[in-house]
Amino acid sequence: MISIIVGTNRKNSETLRVAKYYQKTLEDRSEDCQILDLANLPHDFVYTALYGAQNEEFNTLVEQYIFSVEKLIVVTPEYNGSFPGVMKAFIDGWNPRRVFNKWVALVGVSSGRQGNARGMDDLTNVFNYLKINVIPIKPPMSQISDLLNENNEVADDGMKGMINMQLDLLLEK
Ligand SMILES: Cc1cc2nc3c(=O)[nH]c(=O)nc-3n(C[C@H](O)[C@H](O)[C@H](O)COP(=O)(O)O)c2cc1C
Repeated sequence: MISIIVGTNRKNSETLRVAKYYQKTLEDRSEDCQILDLANLPHDFVYTALYGAQNEEFNTLVEQYIFSVEKLIVVTPEYNGSFPGVMKAFIDGWNPRRVFNKWVALVGVSSGRQGNARGMDDLTNVFNYLKINVIPIKPPMSQISDLLNENNEVADDGMKGMINMQLDLLLEK
């Protein structure tokens, strides 16, 4: 089982559309996966689930989508030049001893030209600090409204190839 994390709590985000594209691509390869959209976290989790506070709903989600899987795909939009704060707060709610040695594939999404390349580097630092392995291919999905068509497909062959290479590496772990 692979968890695909939508790294924003903005409802109906472009990032969710990209996560669904990854879900379909994995299903076409007969891989099981599940999506967690951070828009569906308990809305008060920053105050009720961090620093030792216990929020049962948050704990259940983290158990199902993070601790119980070995592989993650984390899709994050570019907000002010990096990944969204809600994603960092979500990570701050994990028990670091339960994520050691997992593998993560990163995907960046932006309306601008950078495809959240810097945010993926920032996330790489955080995940490496937690001893989570990061797949070195990190698709920067820039100008997202042109990249994903209305059927939620990536038409650009270069980007498609990069995504498939990234998934090959994740799946062989
Ligand atoms: C708070 C905020 C900050 C943003 N900052 C940037 C940015 O620094 N660079 C950029 O290219 N787009 C930026 N955007 C636009 C997003 O890239 C755009 O909304 C895109 O669709 C991905 O975000 P989404 O998944 O929320 O839809 C920002 C959007 C928000 C809501």
